[in-house]
Amino acid sequence: MNLPVEELEIGMYVEIPLSWHEHPFLKNSFLITSEEEIRKIKDSGIRHVKVDFGRSRCLAAVGKPPVEPEGGSNPAEEEDVVPPELISSIHDRTLAAEKRAHLVIEHSLVMMQGLLEKPSTLRIDQAKRGISEIVNLILRDDHAAYYLININTHDFYTYTHSVNVGILGVTLAKAIFQNTSTHDIHALGVGFFLHDLGKVRVDQAIINKPAKLTEEEMREIRRHPAHGFKILLETRQLTEESRLVVLQHHERYDGSGYPRGLRKDEIHIYARLCSLADVYDALTSERPYKKSMTSFEALKLMREEMLFHFQTELFEKFVLMFRAPNHARLN
Ligand SMILES: [Fe+2]
Ligand SMILES: [Fe+2]
Repeated sequence: MNLPVEELEIGMYVEIPLSWHEHPFLKNSFLITSEEEIRKIKDSGIRHVKVDFGRSRCLAAVGKPPVEPEGGSNPAEEEDVVPPELISSIHDRTLAAEKRAHLVIEHSLVMMQGLLEKPSTLRIDQAKRGISEIVNLILRDDHAAYYLININTHDFYTYTHSVNVGILGVTLAKAIFQNTSTHDIHALGVGFFLHDLGKVRVDQAIINKPAKLTEEEMREIRRHPAHGFKILLETRQLTEESRLVVLQHHERYDGSGYPRGLRKDEIHIYARLCSLADVYDALTSERPYKKSMTSFEALKLMREEMLFHFQTELFEKFVLMFRAPNHARLN
């Protein structure tokens, strides 16, 4: 269906009616994940864009006629949440580091959307495989990691936040645990990507509310770490330590967090790492009621006003992560 560009929304899967070199995107067809992308589409002078509602993930897609899946009828239940393009872009060594990072993020968003729509045992198991590939990429390639954590995809959707926190958390774990072999960063990575899984059991009207939350709504949303922990117990997924990431990622080093107000070493080290990635991404993300901060502004605010929430040594490592790798020829 062709739509005027004024009606585009985040979550729509669009096809740009121009040649690849005539627009600023990596591909002609893609899922819109930010207001910035909508602005770029408008700036390129296009008046109408083809929207594939069958592949879209926005509210506008509800009620639109479903598109017949290519090559027959695969029930959604049986579809792998890991897009094959995620794996192929991770392994395509001909791609420049920045372009590869963009593709990995784009396909990771699709994976996490699929998982959070219905976090069944099967889907979590599938996602673990995709996440493990992303972890391998971050562990072996400093340039890819640099681009992955510095790419600006900061809308307010839980799946975008999950991908960002996953990538930031794994890169931080790499920096902290690089000289040890006692930590399973693959298992930990799954914990980071799934840290907000419990939000699927919170009223979505509260999650998507385009304004600040009331006290009552805050109480509801503060149940998400326990919901997530329970889902992982029920589906028998993740290691005990990675489940603690989900349960404790809102605990704060000074005891001011939730759900239990744990302090310092009472909070598992993995959850302490996750809280840094989580807060940073929340600050740099756009909300309908607040503008996003730049990376510099967010790190400055965390250092000057929130440092007591974090373990200082971990925060210092977190800041260093955003520097370009040594001897990098960044293109
Ligand atoms: Fe959370
Ligand atoms: Fe979060």
